[in-house]
Amino acid sequence: MIIRHMEPEDCGAIISAAPDWWGSTYASDMFSSWYIHHFRETCLVAEQGGDMIGFLMGFLSQTVPDEAYIRIVMVDPVARGQGVGRALYGNFFDRAAASGRTTIRCVTVPRKKDSIAFHTKLGFSIEPQEQELEGVPVCLNYDGRGGNRVMFKKLLVR
Ligand SMILES: CC(C)(COP(=O)(O)OP(=O)(O)OC[C@H]1O[C@@H](n2cnc3c(N)ncnc32)[C@H](O)[C@@H]1OP(=O)(O)O)[C@@H](O)C(=O)NCCC(=O)NCCS
Repeated sequence: MIIRHMEPEDCGAIISAAPDWWGSTYASDMFSSWYIHHFRETCLVAEQGGDMIGFLMGFLSQTVPDEAYIRIVMVDPVARGQGVGRALYGNFFDRAAASGRTTIRCVTVPRKKDSIAFHTKLGFSIEPQEQELEGVPVCLNYDGRGGNRVMFKKLLVR
């Protein structure tokens, strides 16, 4: 497996694979080509034998200079459980650290127990909140449209 940053030519494969890889709650705004144009160095593809088996979209925060944010990650269902997600995150951590970032943030919805387990395994903690939903602390109305999110945080060890 190799991990590399995205190229504009990856856009079609991602748009084609993402709905199946994500599942029924996929929304078309989860991925857009402008991520590749403006955050290319922190948007990553995992490849095996020339085929994309996973991708990650993230960026370095402009507002918080020691933070980086992972917007989304997806791994081909047939390649799950083999360390692809861990490899994508590890590569992103390295790129973030090389740019002086010490904190990685990302979010998920409280019903996605698989995502919570994955992030916990990768060393993320869940940010405390005043309220819990489905047994987990959540930030209410995180997206400004009523969507609640579990807030993950990981400190990079230097
Ligand atoms: C979440 C996802 C990215 C994980 O990718 P993956 O390649 O299967 O994960 P890895 O094989 O690298 O697993 C890394 C660790 O997380 C754990 N893990 C991964 N998926 C898990 C699950 N469903 N339940 C429990 N633990 C899980 C693994 O056991 C592993 O731990 P270990 O290294 O200590 O053994 C993948 O399942 C996916 O694409 N899901 C759909 C999209 C999604 O939910 N994205 C996350 C929300 S943004």
